[in-house]
Amino acid sequence: MTASSIETSDTRAAIAAHVTRDLPELEDIRNRDLRAKVVEAWSYALAEEGLRRISDMEGCGSPGRLQLRTGSQLTHIRAVTNMARASGEALKASDPDLPLDVDILIAGGLLHDVGKPFEFNAARRAGWTDRPSSCGFPAMRHPAHGWHICLTVGLPIEVAHIAGAHSHEGEHLQRSLECILVHHADFAYWKALKVSGLLIDPPLS
Ligand SMILES: [Fe+2]
Ligand SMILES: [Fe+2]
Repeated sequence: MTASSIETSDTRAAIAAHVTRDLPELEDIRNRDLRAKVVEAWSYALAEEGLRRISDMEGCGSPGRLQLRTGSQLTHIRAVTNMARASGEALKASDPDLPLDVDILIAGGLLHDVGKPFEFNAARRAGWTDRPSSCGFPAMRHPAHGWHICLTVGLPIEVAHIAGAHSHEGEHLQRSLECILVHHADFAYWKALKVSGLLIDPPLS
């Protein structure tokens, strides 16, 4: 093993330790392999963009808009996961026939924005800000990159689907049950904070 590969594996291990500590919701995923893959996906996504923690990313829906007054992406991801889980479990209590997979719901909630390290990378953003005629603007949004990350580390299609379809991209297909819950939790999160004056966006008029 070369010095740089040792450094890379040490860095990835340190990032994985941060991810594990920062996401206590991981403990509620009963499938150990799935839990490990969630950590691997976030560690890979962060390391690829030179980040070490989810909280290194500012708390925005997209770069420059829907910005939290306090908190980071970590705040958002944990809240959306817990909102989606609460609504799913409430619906399951109301209708026991609901085919809810809580493991997939938690994993999908924790990973729905796993593509954001790519979309929020300032160096990458400069490429499409400076050359939109060549790169598009943005070159790609985080759901598509999240789908790529999930499949790259071997997560099941049910989780990759949530990362890829939780936002506007999902309007072009039928979302799964767990993806519907994450989608609505995600949009409710931003809308509820905006109407409450808890975002730095322009005030409502
Ligand atoms: Fe998102
Ligand atoms: Fe989100």
